[in-house]
Amino acid sequence: MKDKELIEKAIEASKRAYAPYSNFQVGAALQLKNGEIIQGCNVENASYGLTNCAERTALFAAIARGEKNFTRLAIYVDRPAFTAPCGACRQVILELAPKVEIILVNNRGETRKTSIKELLPLSFGSEDLES
Ligand code: THU
Repeated sequence: MKDKELIEKAIEASKRAYAPYSNFQVGAALQLKNGEIIQGCNVENASYGLTNCAERTALFAAIARGEKNFTRLAIYVDRPAFTAPCGACRQVILELAPKVEIILVNNRGETRKTSIKELLPLSFGSEDLES
């Protein structure tokens, strides 16, 4: 599948964001190894700290479906700047999808590809608990 299809899914997901407080609508599209796509959007709450980001919504939905193998994660916001995952989401991506290719997408149709290695260097993860 081409990037374009995954990006379209992230754009579609952003339109479902529940973001009445920030008005910052984020969409995520997570591709499974078998090609399927799981979408996520941010879900806010009047108790602001309970907000769930689009990336975590997609990853948690995937885990709840029993999926474990992810290839690409596209993240879209309707802005000219690229929006990268927040710190909390980076830690969750490290835990659940450390090898995923992260594709940031802006509203000019441009992309920037990155990885959790680049976004979260010198990280603390599950391996650190082993020894
Ligand atoms: N947000 C995401 O969903 N993903 C990101 O990568 C950055 C931030 C959400 C959280 C909140 O609903 C809104 O964007 C503003 O921070």
